[in-house]
Amino acid sequence: MRPRADGTRASGRRSSTRSRVPSRRSPGATPPTGRSVFVHPQALCESEDVGPGTRVWAFAHVMVGAHVGAGCNLGDHVFVETGAWIGDRVTVKNQVLVWDRVTLEDEVFVGPGVVFTNDLRPRVRFRTPPKDFLPTRVGRGAAIGANATIRCGVTVGANAFVAAGGVVIRDVPPHALVAGNPARRIGWVCACAETLGSDFTCRCGRRYRLAADGAAGLVPANRGA
Ligand SMILES: CC(C)(COP(=O)(O)OP(=O)(O)OC[C@H]1O[C@@H](n2cnc3c(N)ncnc32)[C@H](O)[C@@H]1OP(=O)(O)O)[C@@H](O)C(=O)NCCC(=O)NCCS
Ligand SMILES: [Zn+2]
Repeated sequence: MRPRADGTRASGRRSSTRSRVPSRRSPGATPPTGRSVFVHPQALCESEDVGPGTRVWAFAHVMVGAHVGAGCNLGDHVFVETGAWIGDRVTVKNQVLVWDRVTLEDEVFVGPGVVFTNDLRPRVRFRTPPKDFLPTRVGRGAAIGANATIRCGVTVGANAFVAAGGVVIRDVPPHALVAGNPARRIGWVCACAETLGSDFTCRCGRRYRLAADGAAGLVPANRGA
């Protein structure tokens, strides 16, 4: 056991363990830089599966059974439904709804107002049973710009980038930059988010090449990538 800044004691278990009970801090308290979970007094965090170092801000709601990894940041008015799965070091900006069957892998960025979905053909009178909801996966390091809509059943590849306002209706290859409605690829981006030229070399030093399978997008051509 190790002491917390607030004087209580917390175990140093990693995020993959279950049954973590988020700690609460007083209004206006400085959010922790350590490994405890910060739940704003005006937030509702019902899940015990929230990793250390994660911050849940005002009016956010994390339902029981939702998984949130370590070091995440869930902004005001974020909703995370039972069955949603969020990895480590994920940022979810304000007013994002993360439904059942949505998976956000490690280090994903979700911009404000992004809309996920899980029911392809919703009707009130002919309800879709949850078993028929379509999964959505956002790959490691990907970023989704403000107000984008992600139709259920798609995979956004690792390090891909969805421009603000894009409506994604089909899979996005890794490192693709997509924009518009429906979103189409308008370029390729580096892991650092810079747009790549035809030599697939970024000024940050990372280099890429097209994967043999076009659907696999770009793959690293040097170790730094
Ligand atoms: C995609 C993005 C990174 C491109 O930025 P950029 O490289 O400076 O882009 P530019 O303004 O030079 O535009 C390049 C082209 O992409 C198009 N484009 C850029 N953003 C677009 C968007 N959101 N939707 C549709 N097309 C877009 C431009 O029209 C332009 O096309 P053209 O060459 O035919 O005229 C940026 O526009 C974006 O959407 N960023 C996300 C911001 C965001 O939501 N942040 C969330 C945290 S606050
Ligand atoms: Zn780069």
